[in-house]
Amino acid sequence: MLIFTKALEIADFLAIQRNSALKLGFVPTMGALHNGHIALVEKAKRENDLVIVSIFVNPTQFNNPEDLKNYPKTPEADHKMLDAAGTDILFQPTVDEVYNHGLKEGKEIDLGKLERVMEGAHRPGHFKGVVQVVARLFDIVRPDRAYFGEKDFQQLAVIRKMTSDLNYNIEIIGCETIREKSGLAMSSRNLRLSEEERKIATQIYKAMEYVRDNWKTLGQQEALKNAIERINSHPPLKVEYLEIADAKDLQPIVLSDKKVNARVFAAVFCGGVRLIDNLDIS
Ligand code: PAJ
Repeated sequence: MLIFTKALEIADFLAIQRNSALKLGFVPTMGALHNGHIALVEKAKRENDLVIVSIFVNPTQFNNPEDLKNYPKTPEADHKMLDAAGTDILFQPTVDEVYNHGLKEGKEIDLGKLERVMEGAHRPGHFKGVVQVVARLFDIVRPDRAYFGEKDFQQLAVIRKMTSDLNYNIEIIGCETIREKSGLAMSSRNLRLSEEERKIATQIYKAMEYVRDNWKTLGQQEALKNAIERINSHPPLKVEYLEIADAKDLQPIVLSDKKVNARVFAAVFCGGVRLIDNLDIS
């Protein structure tokens, strides 16, 4: 695995590969890697000639300074996992390298309705930071395809909108959420949970399954209310939101018997750690 830390150096190197007609698959990450990340790398590996992974903890997408400070870092384990998965190139820049024009500079889009619901509403400025960094990374790497997880379903929608609004000629590939056997969605932030908390956090998935399996008989409001109560009855879990939304535009939806493409979305605090997850319920 080749490791680059400088934007110009990786851009020059990749220009040569592109000129040799090699297809470039890109997986942006913030490190503290787990099998969810590795599933993206493996898919990129199957579908491209070269796989580039970035590890960069992007300060501009953290609306909470404590969250940024406490974000887990496991560099040696990350390198081993990426190597084992057959990653060709790792881009691991510093903050100055990515934001050499300043933390406030960069591309922006009008996020529209996506900014007013769920993660957009509860984490002000978060998606602005995600767009800023992913646009910068796309400009440096210029991949043919880029891979994002459905674990962050709203982020995936933001990236699709950004790619279209800013006219990137990049195919955005969404990948299904990888879970622990217990159902808990894999997440770098799980490293901040104790063993006991990890067990309790499986209630989030169970509650989403409950909504999926019961909204038809109970009605969506009742199913959501029961699911929220169920999560909150397991301290230190505390629901921030548990909502049903249209998978197309992430807006609230009233379910009917008609076939709809709907998902349930959860943001739950487990003590000081904020976990998000979502599940297809249609
Ligand atoms: P990070 O949280 O490290 O996630 C990197 C990618 O892995 C994202 O596309 C995310 O959706 C995906 N991912 C995380 N957990 C997953 C799981 N359990 N199953 C499948 N995919 C999973 O998301 C970010 O970083 C950042 O916002 C980033 C896009 C890199 C911009 O800074």
